[in-house]
Amino acid sequence: MRKPVIAGNWKMFKLLNEAVETVLALKPLVANANHCEVVIAPVFTVLKTISDRLEGSNIKLAAQDCAIQNDFGAHTGEVAPVMLKDAGCSHVIVGHSERRQFYGETDESVNWKSMAALAAELTAIVCVGEHLAERESGNAEDVVRTQLEGGLSGLTANDLERIIIAYEPVWAIGTGKTATPEQAQEMHGFIRNCIGNTHGENAAEGMRILYGGSVKPDNISTLMSQPDVDGALVGGASLEAESFAKIVNYR
Ligand code: PGA
Repeated sequence: MRKPVIAGNWKMFKLLNEAVETVLALKPLVANANHCEVVIAPVFTVLKTISDRLEGSNIKLAAQDCAIQNDFGAHTGEVAPVMLKDAGCSHVIVGHSERRQFYGETDESVNWKSMAALAAELTAIVCVGEHLAERESGNAEDVVRTQLEGGLSGLTANDLERIIIAYEPVWAIGTGKTATPEQAQEMHGFIRNCIGNTHGENAAEGMRILYGGSVKPDNISTLMSQPDVDGALVGGASLEAESFAKIVNYR
């Protein structure tokens, strides 16, 4: 069956010493969490150091973004997926709503980044999710379907084994407003259906679909009790080792 994934997105927080401190505190707290995969996504500059500190632990390392390709060259400011792998990452977040909203990410660039991540043997955590106005006007499913079709375009059912989807309604990110477990389940079921339509039943059944948006220690277990919720992408509540560990140890 699908192994749950609990991933912490540290966004643009923590200098090196704070990142190391958090990781050292987190390691023993999640050492027995065999029921799920534990992933943290710190900023680029601390990845290599954190990767060294994680050696021998069950915590996996993700970057928060990557370049659209792996060919070395004149791409000032970009970091290739193959370099993230070299720094110790196994995962990379792609298409987070903050990148879509403020840094020009499009479904097309999400697609390129996902392919580049797979080529570097990383697992891509592909984020989708609607804005409040889109939900209120009844377009949430259309928006998410378009993001999925664009982001996963050209990927085979095999490729999808190394893709994780994170559904993050933009109105729930950092707002304290979580989607209800029913709202999450409804969209997760819809996403699984979409993947079934584009990539077949097996790909759909195997796909881990994470929920993100104000996940906290006190709402994780009801979210996880939904049949199509396979984990969480956690922002704010992942910054403190104790609260993230509570989320990891949700059961
Ligand atoms: P939040 O962020 O948990 O702080 O709402 C989630 C995310 O942006 O991935």
